[in-house]
Amino acid sequence: MDFNLTEEQIMIRDAARDFAQTELLPGVIERDELQKFPHEQIKKMGELGFLGMMVDPKYGGGGMDAVSYVLAMEEISKVDASASVVMSVNNSLVCWGLETFGTEEQKQKYLTKLATGEIIGAFCLSEPEAGSDATSQKTTAKDMGDYYLVNGTKNWITNGNTASVYLVIAQTDIEKGHKGINALILEKDMEGFVVGPKENKLGIRGSDTHSLMFTDVKVPKENRIGEDGFGFKFAMKTLTGGRIGIASQALGIASGAYELALQYSKERKSFGKEISQHQAIAFKLADMATEIEAARLLCLKAASDKDNGNDYSQSGAMAKLYAAEMAMRTTVEAVQIHGGYGFVKEYHVERMMRDAKITQIYEGTSEIQKIVISRGILRD
Ligand code: CAA
Repeated sequence: MDFNLTEEQIMIRDAARDFAQTELLPGVIERDELQKFPHEQIKKMGELGFLGMMVDPKYGGGGMDAVSYVLAMEEISKVDASASVVMSVNNSLVCWGLETFGTEEQKQKYLTKLATGEIIGAFCLSEPEAGSDATSQKTTAKDMGDYYLVNGTKNWITNGNTASVYLVIAQTDIEKGHKGINALILEKDMEGFVVGPKENKLGIRGSDTHSLMFTDVKVPKENRIGEDGFGFKFAMKTLTGGRIGIASQALGIASGAYELALQYSKERKSFGKEISQHQAIAFKLADMATEIEAARLLCLKAASDKDNGNDYSQSGAMAKLYAAEMAMRTTVEAVQIHGGYGFVKEYHVERMMRDAKITQIYEGTSEIQKIVISRGILRD
């Protein structure tokens, strides 16, 4: 087993680290406070190839492996989890879904622009009454011959307003259960497509999360992804890879908070010495470092499974479960180590603690990851 990174992987990680420090760090507190989407920064991320990292270069992507993607996601997330969720959704859900299951026409029309960041995409599965129970889709896509008529509401959609292209999961034939669900490509300017108000969130406040309303939206048949009834499997397969992205996001949030706590603990003095010299703090740092390393190895294992053509549904779910739970624990400890300073915005760790929470919820809650993992164990 080789735990060494290639020269190219190191270069990508360093480029992401440099970008995060120089372009994302300035203004990250203000963007969080004012809920400002990082438009300029996301544009630059597109130009640098961070929005279509794994896409084949013939469609404008970087042709990189999933390990490089994990490394870049960690670095971006260390500084700005609002920017990294845009990156994760665009890469893992939208670009990957289209590249793997889209037609050549769909790839030429949409993927080439999504991979370069010329446009941003969104993935629309969650509904007011269908989050974890994803088969209970209420949004309908009625088959009208040469088009689908889409009606319904989607909730908590990342990139809800910034996106131009939306992969929408909808029920065509309720009798067929999950086999009656389709995945359709919608464009924001289609008649009957309305972007609802922005959510005022606890964390990742720089990202734009909206509900979407569809009223008699006519979607041409050529915008369906895969065969009729493939929509649920499309969503599941896409989310399987998406979980590696969110696991890496959680890893990055935790390692960002840990690095700040470590630095602070070496500067801050109490009872006559640096607080890192008190065992109460040193042991916290030891636990944090160990758990972060464990999460990093799980993320890289899942990515390497994907790169090597192995099944990554189990390893991806394990990475997501562990990294998200660990990120919550680690960021709480980072605030604790900072004491009163940790409770104010200038020190970043309170934002990281708020940002960590969503990693236990989106792209499948921790409980959903346990369903996936336990079913896998019991099936084997
Ligand atoms: N890959 C391929 N196929 C899969 C699959 C996978 N990972 N998981 C399930 N399937 C298939 C099954 O094989 C089955 O097909 P067959 O009937 O042909 O055998 C079919 O899908 C139905 O599977 P289940 O019976 O297991 O379905 P279920 O209703 O029990 O649900 C679940 C399974 C894992 C709980 C699923 O509903 C799930 O993952 N829910 C969570 C959804 C989620 O992650 N939502 C997050 C929203 S997106 C988001 O957050 C994006 C963002 O903005 C950041």
